[in-house]
Amino acid sequence: MKPRVQVTREVFDEVLDYLAEHFEVSANQSDAPFTPVELAEHLADKHGALTVLTDRVDDALLARCPNLKAVCNIAVGFNNIDLKACSARGVLATNTPGVLDSATADFTWALILATARRLTEAEAWLRAGEWHGWKLKQFLGQDVAGATLGIVGLGRIGQAVARRARGFDMKVLYFNRKRVDADIEREFGATYAPLDTLLAESDIVTLHTPYSPATHHLIGAQQLARMKPTAMLIHAARGGVVDDAALIEALKSGKIAAAGLDVFESEPKLNPAFLRFKNVVLAPHIASSTHRTRFNMAMLAARNLVAALTTGKPPNLLNPPAN
Ligand code: GLV
Repeated sequence: MKPRVQVTREVFDEVLDYLAEHFEVSANQSDAPFTPVELAEHLADKHGALTVLTDRVDDALLARCPNLKAVCNIAVGFNNIDLKACSARGVLATNTPGVLDSATADFTWALILATARRLTEAEAWLRAGEWHGWKLKQFLGQDVAGATLGIVGLGRIGQAVARRARGFDMKVLYFNRKRVDADIEREFGATYAPLDTLLAESDIVTLHTPYSPATHHLIGAQQLARMKPTAMLIHAARGGVVDDAALIEALKSGKIAAAGLDVFESEPKLNPAFLRFKNVVLAPHIASSTHRTRFNMAMLAARNLVAALTTGKPPNLLNPPAN
């Protein structure tokens, strides 16, 4: 008998076909997110799960799924999965690193440019029929070329953002938990700076750290107060890295000039104050959302699931092999 797996949200048909070669597949193609209770019900008799970042996989859930051997997340972030609990219960957990670096870096640049040049504000104004003529001082924005870019988190995505900064002749500072090797610094033209220095000197601060207890509210009131009043914050990492309430205060009081945001605490319920700022560009957590990238993410997660349940050695294993 084939192992049983659950796909928790809508995926591409090719991914389901591939899984069906190996497993008895239950798919939630209606795409309605499972509540925690529904998730537990659906996983109770399954051997594997293809999950997304909105599925919380914790010990309480695992306790109800005695057959579960693998949880394969369609995301590079895995803060929705309790790795310790997975290890303790013999469940392999995986993510999808690498395949979304370019799309996420491209989108980061979309946010940088749209925020600096007030694109969404200008578009809304035009659509509202407010444009009655060209003016020299219309929608004056900030220069990106020649500015100082501060990258918080110089992992794969941060590096892809740095690579793109070359075309804009920028000075690039970075802060990372661990300073990267000198040859990587040279390759990306990035200079290490302590976080406080990076915040004080950058015109554009962009965040690319994973979310964990260590990075919870990494950017809060104190950090925002160190930024230049002309600077902007770009956030396409994970809700929770920024203290959203502190960011709203910083925008209200003019401590920073603008923000471009793809992720939020408690998303999709973002703080309504964000909707009122004209100087904030908002997006609904779509940084990796291109046809090719989302397909590759789902397929990589499926490959992880097949490997996890057949060889016990998925390519993107996150937790130490369980005993
Ligand atoms: C998306 O947010 C991801 O973590 O892949």
